[in-house]
Amino acid sequence: MSELHISPTGQSLRGTIRVPADKSISHRAAILGALAEGDFSVENFLPSQTTQATVNCLRGLGAEIEQPDLNTLVIRGHGLRGLREPNDVLFCEGSGTTIRLLAGICAGQDFLSILDGTPALKRRPMARVVNPLREMGATILARDSGRLPPLAIRGGHLHGIDSTLPVASAQVKSALLLAGLFADAPTTVREPGPSRDHTERMLRAFGAHVESVNAPSGFGVRTSPISDLPPSGRPTSITVPADFSSAAFFIVAAMLVPKSEIHIERVGVNPTRTGLLDMLRAMGADILLEGEHEQGNEPAADVMVRASNLRGVEVSGDTVVRMIDEFPIFAVAATQAQGETIVRDAAELRVKESDRIATVVTELRALGARIEPQADGFVVEGPTPLRGAVVDSHGDHRLAMALAVAGLIAEGEVVVKNVECIDDSFPGFAELLWQMGRG
Ligand code: S3P
Repeated sequence: MSELHISPTGQSLRGTIRVPADKSISHRAAILGALAEGDFSVENFLPSQTTQATVNCLRGLGAEIEQPDLNTLVIRGHGLRGLREPNDVLFCEGSGTTIRLLAGICAGQDFLSILDGTPALKRRPMARVVNPLREMGATILARDSGRLPPLAIRGGHLHGIDSTLPVASAQVKSALLLAGLFADAPTTVREPGPSRDHTERMLRAFGAHVESVNAPSGFGVRTSPISDLPPSGRPTSITVPADFSSAAFFIVAAMLVPKSEIHIERVGVNPTRTGLLDMLRAMGADILLEGEHEQGNEPAADVMVRASNLRGVEVSGDTVVRMIDEFPIFAVAATQAQGETIVRDAAELRVKESDRIATVVTELRALGARIEPQADGFVVEGPTPLRGAVVDSHGDHRLAMALAVAGLIAEGEVVVKNVECIDDSFPGFAELLWQMGRG
């Protein structure tokens, strides 16, 4: 098991950096490329264990995908009805996005698929996707009465449904929208909050019919069945923007290390992902977006961040889903803010790669933070000087990186154990942090 040792160098963070490609968009580009007819290439694909799992599972389903270099996929799609029965288990590694989105695809197939993954994935809740897919007509067996992986899916002959999700989830929404392509009538998904809309954007670009149904309240979207995603009129390639959730670690690092100023190039700034920006600005952060442009049907921009003095803030409601992956690093920022920072309505954090309420509280306390867990969030009292200690990632990539950033401002050495998981979303993180930390 490898570990990271971080000691503050006293240097500010300066310069222009790039962070890896968006994980969510990389998964979706591989999936839609495999479902569409004709050739499609994905440039700036994120080569991580989780996205690679999606590629391997799609290959298991008969998709022809070449990877001439780590960051490029060349997909020869055989169309919406072109997948075939896998002759082995589809191994999703630790990737919730892989298992849930592919469950939606497999539900549309008139053959047997078995989706499984690592011990960590086997603990992630699946009833949220299994139940509505069953309602659409798929036969799905899963451990613990349909709640935990592996999933055995025999699909085909789906009906369109109108489903209201109790918790906003882009993975569940995407699974149902993708299954809806194979159904006999439109499928509507309603959510209590604005989960990321990358699937909808990409489906539209591929020529699928996707409409918003926001009335009378809440957030809703509908897809219609389609016979194919034909080659004419749709993009033949996509360039994936950099991942805002990866940029977040350097945004907060630059904010906390005195006299820092960094530019992060070509970052995806889809508003369903940038709740952290809004909250940091509300805390007094100096962040600018420059050169806003479209990349791969997504808004992107260069992010400019300067070291800032922060004050506490309350995060709740719709903002939570728009920054759902950013709470570990947000908690680090909150330890340096003046006053109380309160996070509510975020019980969903308990079923991420780790129970992020429990793990963030335990590990930040070990560094000296004043942080209290709540059933649906946490409360941080700041500012608190952090001190060196040995802390653990709990196998959670975002917690590992958040703790490493905390190491930049702690007094004494921070050792983060079990950091292999960083490669789930940010290959090269340690090298970039090392390079930036040296000024
Ligand atoms: C993701 C959706 C979110 C997020 C995850 C990636 C996606 O999960 O936390 O890291 O790519 O759709 P939920 O849909 O479970 O909220």
